[in-house]
Amino acid sequence: MSVYLDSNATSQVHPEVVEAMMPYLKEAWHNPSSGYRAGRDVKAAVGRAREQVAELIGAKPSEIVFTGCGTESNNMAIKSLAREIGRKASKVLVSEIEHSAVLRPTDAMAAVGFDVERVGVDTEGRLDLEDFQNRLDSSVPGFISIMWANNETGVVQPISEATALAKEAGWWVHTDAIQAAGKVPVRVDEVPVDFLSISGHKFHAPKGVGCLYIREGSPFEPMIRGGGQESGRRSGTENVPYIMGLGKAAEIMKDEMENGGMKRVGELRDLLEESLAAKIKGVQLNGSREHRTANVAHVSFDGCVASQMLPLLDEAGVQCSAGSACMTGKNQPSHVQKAMGFSDERAFSSLRLSLSIFTTEEEIDRAVEVLAWVVRDVRGN
Ligand SMILES: Cc1ncc(COP(=O)(O)O)c(C=O)c1O
Repeated sequence: MSVYLDSNATSQVHPEVVEAMMPYLKEAWHNPSSGYRAGRDVKAAVGRAREQVAELIGAKPSEIVFTGCGTESNNMAIKSLAREIGRKASKVLVSEIEHSAVLRPTDAMAAVGFDVERVGVDTEGRLDLEDFQNRLDSSVPGFISIMWANNETGVVQPISEATALAKEAGWWVHTDAIQAAGKVPVRVDEVPVDFLSISGHKFHAPKGVGCLYIREGSPFEPMIRGGGQESGRRSGTENVPYIMGLGKAAEIMKDEMENGGMKRVGELRDLLEESLAAKIKGVQLNGSREHRTANVAHVSFDGCVASQMLPLLDEAGVQCSAGSACMTGKNQPSHVQKAMGFSDERAFSSLRLSLSIFTTEEEIDRAVEVLAWVVRDVRGN
């Protein structure tokens, strides 16, 4: 039996998503910019997908720009905002625990003279709001890029409070909601962010499609120019089948959240954590218990090294990861866990076990059984 517990790396494409995509590979493959009926029909279909994504986050369809991935969405927002605030006497705040798709573009800004500061988190992995507030400076132009939920721990950030403070200072707000959308309510009609990034493959759409929400009236400078698709905000002929998949996944996950699907995922995650704590000594559950997505258990196993555990788990059919997929093979403790104040030893002993709506109780039972065996083996007892 194979058990997939790495849905934060990428999630299984939902069969209904595949079904929604197929007609746009097989029959309706026309260019949505073409003027004849077949093209116009495809354009209308893209419009419906835009509505589905907009509904997931409480946006207007016209505020949704389809992109090639979450990394692209983050880069688009950050590079456009960099241009807007200018590099002289301006300031950028990000958190220590951002994904590299925010840290690397803001590092590049720092390298050319922008004042980029990183705000820390507490031991539960939540943004230090006091430090954040102290660093805001209403006398200069600025923006923040703070994630909605962390990819390693699943901890949901105080994005509402951070957005209110940044807006009060007159700053722009971008949030990487890539690990939050489709898992917890993400509503731009309730939290007035200006830019918000989404990636399809984190919630059962395929890899290689995402979107950037751009609030109406926000300044925006396109990163990719050309034929003027996406109302000139992201040129390039639309990846229609994948956009259709993203739309369907948004619809499915809205329904799952509203009708108890994610609650069930949370119950399985709790079962996983409780069983691990009951069956294995020296287990530490990391991150806020209260503020987190339903699908992540982040666990340290005293006296173990994750890099030794992972191949054994893999051999036994359990797929999970230490930290994020992007960090695989890098022999460094996770920057997220270091920001939470963990020792190197604890950081190296942690696993991220991420579930999805496809996870079953039998899989959880099997994963616990295998983990108990692997921990005994690695500890040599
Ligand atoms: C929080 C976060 N931001 C950005 C990304 C990058 O998204 P994509 O893989 O679609 O480029 C990921 C993916 O791991 C992520 O978890």
